[in-house]
Amino acid sequence: MPDAPSLERVSAQTAAARLRQQSGSYAETYEHSRSAPDEFWLQQADRVDWITPPTLSSPSQADQPGTDQGCWFADGTMNMSANVLDRHVAAGRGSNPALITDSAMTGEQNVLTYAELLERVSTFAGGLQELGVSAGDRVLIYLPMISEAVVAMLACARIGAVHSVVFGGFAANELAVRINDATPSVIVTATGGLEPTRQVEYLPIVHQAIGLSSGSVRHVIVKDRPQIPGDITEYATGTASGGSLDVAWLDWDELETGARAAAPVEMRSQDPLYILYTSGTTGSPKGVVRDTGGYAVALQWAMTNIYAVGHDSTIFTASDVGWVVGHSFIVYGPLLAGAATVLYEGKPIGTPDAGAFWRIIQEHSVDVLYTAPTALRAIRREDPTLDELEKYDTSSLQAIYLAGERLDTETWHWANDGIRVPIVDHWWQTETGWPICANPRGLQQLESKAGSTGVPMPGFIPRILDREGNDVTQPGTEGNIAIQLPLPPGGLIGLWGSAERFANSYLTEFPGYYATGDAGYFDDDGYLFVMGRTDDVINVAGHRLSTGSFEEVISQHPDVAECAVLGLHDELKGQRAAAFITMKHGRNRVESDLAIELVALVREVIGPVAAFRDVMVVERLPKTRSGKILRKTIRQIFDGEDVRIPPTIEDVTVLDAIYTAAGRTRAL
Ligand code: COA
Ligand code: AMP
Repeated sequence: MPDAPSLERVSAQTAAARLRQQSGSYAETYEHSRSAPDEFWLQQADRVDWITPPTLSSPSQADQPGTDQGCWFADGTMNMSANVLDRHVAAGRGSNPALITDSAMTGEQNVLTYAELLERVSTFAGGLQELGVSAGDRVLIYLPMISEAVVAMLACARIGAVHSVVFGGFAANELAVRINDATPSVIVTATGGLEPTRQVEYLPIVHQAIGLSSGSVRHVIVKDRPQIPGDITEYATGTASGGSLDVAWLDWDELETGARAAAPVEMRSQDPLYILYTSGTTGSPKGVVRDTGGYAVALQWAMTNIYAVGHDSTIFTASDVGWVVGHSFIVYGPLLAGAATVLYEGKPIGTPDAGAFWRIIQEHSVDVLYTAPTALRAIRREDPTLDELEKYDTSSLQAIYLAGERLDTETWHWANDGIRVPIVDHWWQTETGWPICANPRGLQQLESKAGSTGVPMPGFIPRILDREGNDVTQPGTEGNIAIQLPLPPGGLIGLWGSAERFANSYLTEFPGYYATGDAGYFDDDGYLFVMGRTDDVINVAGHRLSTGSFEEVISQHPDVAECAVLGLHDELKGQRAAAFITMKHGRNRVESDLAIELVALVREVIGPVAAFRDVMVVERLPKTRSGKILRKTIRQIFDGEDVRIPPTIEDVTVLDAIYTAAGRTRAL
């Protein structure tokens, strides 16, 4: 068993020395996972329930993830929903709280115990089965932060259906792209979500998306929220514009009332549990496919050893079920651990104030808070002296975990000094499913260093490679962060529908490695510092977005000749998308009018989550002689960095307008 979590602050010198001496339990555990991966992971696999326990552990062909030879625990079978629900009830924990819903938007709170959640999940799963959904079928979930989101996910897992949750901040077009790729037969949705300034009606969005898609959807199940009116009959009868009688619109409550409880279906370890779309370098999102057994084993390990969360804990992960953080650390991880998990509908500030998180911690006795750095920056901006924190009893809180984007050192210091619990920055991606680097508090609390995301977790062997793929890993040398294959259990097993795209996106750039798309370096103590992306992905308020998708939308405008979208530094959201455009010849549009149209277009096609506001019209875009737009140079000028103008620039004077707009002057 791991050591009990130590909560004392470990002094920098002693922790670093301990790590170097390789005597702590982190070092031993990590070394075990490297030297005897099969033994290590089979031991961890014992901590979840299998129908057929695996005898095989690591993939026999590490460079072929997604195939039977490339997967973990190849001969094991299990059911994920039985692991997160039935086994806790069977162990006598049926009356423990499982799902705590807290809506700052409606003021409502509710607690479902493990037994109650099991009943709701089994019944809804039965309802899905009655609609003909069976193992391997896809179900798209487009729901706000209400209990039904968790119920729908776990119901799919129960019957072996593959869920694909789409974040509510995406517009109809993005939803349609995901429908076309995953070809779900069922969509589960609600009448809408609640944002601080408006109600977001989901039904017109779903209806429009189905109209834009190629026709796989047969049923739409709608949870009626009393706060948001929505009449399914106009869609059910095909009277809504573009409505179709081929798609049946059903009421969630009616479906649940009439259904018979479904038993868990036996699934192979490598069977897909879900598809989760994330941004890549091109405009079309990548459908990351997660397996069942490997994910269960990895999350079980992470809950105990990284988060120190067990049966008696309550974890509040302030994210959305539409992101991987929501999948792993609102839903599957906490429930695998038998903990209580808080599902929060609201914001860190403004609902009603910067004390929202502290209220939740007090009211639900939260042990662990997990959020994005943006949320802390937002709280800091509103309440720099943490007066709101003093109004609540947050003594239950043991630690705060942050991920999703770089945690700037100022915010780290502010939080560390003011909130008085360990602040754990940790780094991972939709693709990996759980943290690559962290401070494994549950195992051994190591020193935390501002700016670093901690040390590698078992099974992850990150290396620093130069552009040619040479391993240049040594303290202080920055380069591409790549992870030796195989990825540990829990890592993606493919991209939905395209083995070739999977290989091209992650495996071919550095043979033998998984390319993370991030750059960074290790320090002398083996701590990793993640500095940013090497591709065209930007990170806005912890939301991963592709500049390519903005460019695709903006280029559609009839007045736009060329455009370059890049991520500029933003005090609150880390980055924000900014578009630099040239107008077509002869279009003498007022720049501000054109900007308003482009902002509206992006919102309509991608959705409000893009948070797009910045447009700059220029005469010409700076380019190399071979025609490549100098995005990095533009970004450096705007972000106030030292600018390295590439010698291959076609015409250096084109930069002058950009310098002027950024309030700088080009050095001659
Ligand atoms: N459904 C519909 N619209 C949504 C939405 C959802 N689920 N989530 C966000 N939006 C909308 C917002 O209403 C906003 O629309 P607006 O332009 O009409 O105001 C837009 O998308 C941008 O939202 P957001 O990024 O939340 O910005 P904000 O200015 O409203 O709030 C913060 C700022 C810092 C409070 C907010 O960004 C935040 O909570 N950040 C933490 C993010 C986070 O937890 N990320 C986790 C990823 S792991
Ligand atoms: P997502 O797949 O949406 O979770 O985004 C993953 C990306 O977010 C990573 O590839 C990083 O670029 C960034 N990221 C996540 N966590 C961190 C972190 N702790 N520090 C720096 N960047 C991070």
